Amino acid sequence: LPSDDDLRALAQGFLELEGPLLPILHAIQDTFGVVPDNAARVLGDVLNVGRAEVHGVLSFYHDFRKAPAGTHVVRICRAEACQSMGGVALAEAVLAHFRTGWHGTTEDGQVTVEPVFCLGLCACAPAAMVDDRLIGRATVEKIAEGVA
Ligand code: FES
Repeated sequence: LPSDDDLRALAQGFLELEGPLLPILHAIQDTFGVVPDNAARVLGDVLNVGRAEVHGVLSFYHDFRKAPAGTHVVRICRAEACQSMGGVALAEAVLAHFRTGWHGTTEDGQVTVEPVFCLGLCACAPAAMVDDRLIGRATVEKIAEGVA
């Protein structure tokens, strides 16, 4: 995990920006794969904002991770069209299959499951995505195949 100095050094490159917090958080995640616990403190100092503000941004945007993602990321659509076409049951079945919760990763580190809001595949609901691949009329079987 990155040290305070690593985070400070990375943040320096963004200080000229207006509203640098989000770009810095993205850069941290892109560079290190996670936004570690020390980020709120370090960025609070560097940007002269409260830690609570940094935490607020981190919890608002679910894209930031505290733990590294699995080898594969499964995204299940939770928007309305999919919800009304079996998306709820699909989500429950997928989470049970991988024995994890939303944003969780399987014990072997292979699969992380994330919710997503509309993949633009509403006509083929319920929709899911495995890594970069869209899956229409998704089933646990199709998703399990996708990560195999
Ligand atoms: Fe699920 Fe649009 S609502 S893909």
